[in-house]
Amino acid sequence: MFGSYPYPRNFYAQNIIEFITVYVKGGKPNNGVGKEIKEKSKLTEKEWLEYTQQVWEIPSPNKRDSAYGEHPSIMPEEIVKRLVRLFTFEGDLVLDPFAGSGTTLKVAKELNRKWVGYEIYENYEEVIKKKLNVDRVRPLLIINKIYKLDVFEFLDNLLDNSIDLAIIDPPYNLLDIEWDRFKDETEFFNFTYRWIDKLIPKLKKTASIYIFNTPSNCAYIMAYLRKKNLIYRSWITWYKKDGFNGNKKKYVNNQETILFFTVSDNYIFDQDKVRVPYLSSERLKHHQGILKNGKRWIPNPSGKLCTDVWEISSDRHQTKVKGKIQKNIHPSPKPEEMIARMIKASSKEGEVVLDLFSGTGTTSAVAKRLKRNFIGCEVNDLYYERAVTRIFKE
Ligand SMILES: C[S@@+](CC[C@H](N)C(=O)[O-])C[C@H]1O[C@@H](n2cnc3c(N)ncnc32)[C@H](O)[C@@H]1O
Repeated sequence: MFGSYPYPRNFYAQNIIEFITVYVKGGKPNNGVGKEIKEKSKLTEKEWLEYTQQVWEIPSPNKRDSAYGEHPSIMPEEIVKRLVRLFTFEGDLVLDPFAGSGTTLKVAKELNRKWVGYEIYENYEEVIKKKLNVDRVRPLLIINKIYKLDVFEFLDNLLDNSIDLAIIDPPYNLLDIEWDRFKDETEFFNFTYRWIDKLIPKLKKTASIYIFNTPSNCAYIMAYLRKKNLIYRSWITWYKKDGFNGNKKKYVNNQETILFFTVSDNYIFDQDKVRVPYLSSERLKHHQGILKNGKRWIPNPSGKLCTDVWEISSDRHQTKVKGKIQKNIHPSPKPEEMIARMIKASSKEGEVVLDLFSGTGTTSAVAKRLKRNFIGCEVNDLYYERAVTRIFKE
């Protein structure tokens, strides 16, 4: 009894109807539906007459609905059934962007339609799974997010053919830290080849890939990428200027490798965006150019072309305070300057950058700053939290 009951002047109508409006996208309908599918999807005369009535008298769901009492506004299955049967053929895809308890998805599934839905409240996940009678629902991954997921689960759910540039800083089998420890080399390379296999279908035909690792691991990774028909472009040596070696019987290790590969010959490489300053700025004073072997060479104000040896101090040296190395929650974050170089050379604004082992989110943070889209995964809680803060709050 709402309104001003029992006195005038305000009443509320008792709500016993809701409206469903139907819109059809412009353009020609798809008439290429096969005979068999058409037959399977056909309605009886009785159904046709009933469903095309303008008023549908359908009661609200009751206790027989598995979500009864768990969700406040369950859609009656009969309504969805009529809409799905009137507007789709078997095998068509039904989208429910506000899935709630999952009624639309359930009915679409039962009627042999494909289905996809989105629900913002995680606590409805169990209600949806119960209604659909499934153990798990696959997350729908969207861009501009880092997912707290294991790399394999993340890749299983990532859309095929969706990535323009992949920058991958995976485990190296080097550090004495849980996520970088493998039983032996075989286990490490099995892990590495497994994520490479799952990654390849996610790349667009025009995509580029950069993979970090030690030079000796990269020798194997490179051979594997070639075997998988990816195209070798550069073996980049990162001179870290940060050499450290406890082993007195070999040279001090002062480099890492970055493998640069592409999927095809149709890819972006903008070398002008990643020029580096000349060693001497004297050259820039020669506006008329410098005569060299009878040819006039005019210096580029943005500097020389970037080579495949990158001299960039490691992050821990760049973030020193008064000469002292600062404690970072992550043992091996990559310098932003280096990631920016890859993104500028190998992608355009608006493209999607994949940050597979996100760590503290360096690649995604730089991608966002350079107006690219990004998507990534990180399994460690602490690094994940740091990445999210860095990308979205700083
Ligand atoms: C070399 S670090 C990446 C550092 C990152 N580039 C940065 O700048 O912060 C590799 C990351 O991979 C994560 N990792 C390792 N195994 C993983 C797995 N199976 N799934 C998802 N992430 C994983 C580790 O937690 C670690 O943070």
